Amino acid sequence: MQLGVVGTGHVGLVTCVTFAEFGHDVIATDEDQAKLEKLEVGDTPFFEPGLSELLQKHRNGKLTFSHEKRSLTDADVVFICVGTPPRASGEANLAAVENSAREVAGHAKAKTLIVEKSTVPAGTATRLRRVLRHERPDLRDDLDVASNPEFLREGAAIEDSLRPSRILVGADSGWARERMRGVYEPLIDKGVEYIETDIATAELSKHACNAFLALKISYINAIARLCERAGADVELVAEVLGSDERIGPHFLKAGLGFGGSCFPKDLRAFDVLARELGYDFTLLRDIAKVNDEAVDAALAKVSDAVWNLDGKRIAMLGLSFKPGTDDVRFSPALELARRLIERGATVVGYDPHASEPAQAEVPEIEIAASAEDALAESHCLVLATEWPEFRDLDLAKARELMAYPVIVDARNFLDGRAALQAGFTYYPVGRPHLAPDE
Ligand code: UGA
Repeated sequence: MQLGVVGTGHVGLVTCVTFAEFGHDVIATDEDQAKLEKLEVGDTPFFEPGLSELLQKHRNGKLTFSHEKRSLTDADVVFICVGTPPRASGEANLAAVENSAREVAGHAKAKTLIVEKSTVPAGTATRLRRVLRHERPDLRDDLDVASNPEFLREGAAIEDSLRPSRILVGADSGWARERMRGVYEPLIDKGVEYIETDIATAELSKHACNAFLALKISYINAIARLCERAGADVELVAEVLGSDERIGPHFLKAGLGFGGSCFPKDLRAFDVLARELGYDFTLLRDIAKVNDEAVDAALAKVSDAVWNLDGKRIAMLGLSFKPGTDDVRFSPALELARRLIERGATVVGYDPHASEPAQAEVPEIEIAASAEDALAESHCLVLATEWPEFRDLDLAKARELMAYPVIVDARNFLDGRAALQAGFTYYPVGRPHLAPDE
């Protein structure tokens, strides 16, 4: 099939390369000419495992790039993958979605299906359909809208797209449903679960999924706060919860809370949507509140450990919102860094991939070239993002390098017993702290 993709951000670019891998001819457009030029020579604008290889494989072949929406004229299906950044009110800004759909419709010659892949609130398709009818009254029966929410995780995006747990398609017309089955035929043939719904249900399901995952994380973080007060161990509580198959073991990792470009933004947008629909979804605000408290709790542990924060050097290992990505949007690590800096501490950060974007986001952070450099003369090590390589940290060496022997493990990632043996006082999340005999 001939497919178009508007927007080459995280979702857009991953969508392009995976559709090319399925054997479709894909044309991707973006407003950013410089970015397109880089993509044409195989340069990826962000770190995502496996992306670069697929881009190299398909660029100038199954996958081509163009600055012009006109190039999408012959596409059977066009996927809108542009950003939907939050407005100050929390509502998603859908101007780019609207404009993209209008432009694609403006250039359409024959039957074209326009698909929302960006996360949008329920009701967006109805508005888009109005835009299409207004723009092209002559193609009234030949332009339609469908919803195909993305469930990929950053850091595992290629894997999630090539082998998704399920595909969700919301469509209201027979030909739209048929075209979407054509797009996903290679996966349907492999037996991947393919769920077809009406459009509003698909749109709402995406927000419902992300909010539920965020709820699980906040639930376990609230339990962690209780465990800290009761002397219980949240890791064991999570094991007990997870062994009940009605609950399941995933997304029950207590830590510094969730961040990224999806959960925080989607929670707020879902809350605004609920209010617009006349329902006060207070639970969503509680999820966000508990998430914020996770950063407060880490801050309290650092202050408890080093006493006055003024003039203290805090080594922060991990700055991205989670391992496996250089994305620092809504990163809880950076939120903690900001709060520490506000209270007079110096934060020396190190991240295997996200140091540069972190520095751009919080210029007051001192960036170190290695974990060891960050640790030198520091009064506390904060493990803020659980990059696998931090597991190999030489704790004895860290102890020698640091001014105070304190670790705040905000992700329960390091070996607490080993830290204690190396002479550290070790503060985990939701479990008793470990201190050498004082
Ligand atoms: C999330 C969803 O997992 C995807 O299904 C969805 O498609 C995507 O949002 C989206 O809407 O585009 P992502 O934001 O890439 O994906 O990251 P996750 O792996 O879900 O992690 C989100 C945050 O939750 C991270 O900060 C992570 O550290 C945190 N987290 C996750 C926890 O604190 N505890 C957990 O148990 C799991």
